[in-house]
Amino acid sequence: ANEKATAEIKMEQICELLRNEVPYYDWVGFYFANHDAKTLHLGAYAGEETDHTVIPFGKGICGQVAVSNENFVVPDVKAQDNYIACSITVKAEIVVPIFKNGVNIGQIDIDSNTADPFSKEDEVFLQWICEGVAKIC
Ligand code: SME
Repeated sequence: ANEKATAEIKMEQICELLRNEVPYYDWVGFYFANHDAKTLHLGAYAGEETDHTVIPFGKGICGQVAVSNENFVVPDVKAQDNYIACSITVKAEIVVPIFKNGVNIGQIDIDSNTADPFSKEDEVFLQWICEGVAKIC
């Protein structure tokens, strides 16, 4: 239980750090999968509180990544049909899956109030973050 608390604190610190240091990261959070229930559950996050603490697989950008196992970069959220709006200020989103022993166990989700801000560099950087997170989960 103690190790779990430590991991949770580390993930909170990662969220805060990313949100504070990258100007176009306005909401940063981790969702973790329950493969039996086929739902994602919000873990640590930094930014505004969200109603979307549980997301079914397949629903929204996050839910799609739970089944696709691939990064999802959304330059313009308005152009997405399968999207769950958390805040009207959000213009773009990036979701990168977390793999542990080859299994998609969750994801990092970042919302931006800037239009089309994410590049390949963000994907590579966030994949590296996710590899680190997988090690402490
Ligand atoms: N926009 C996400 C929902 C989560 S919030 O961004 C925190 C989605 O479409 O899956």
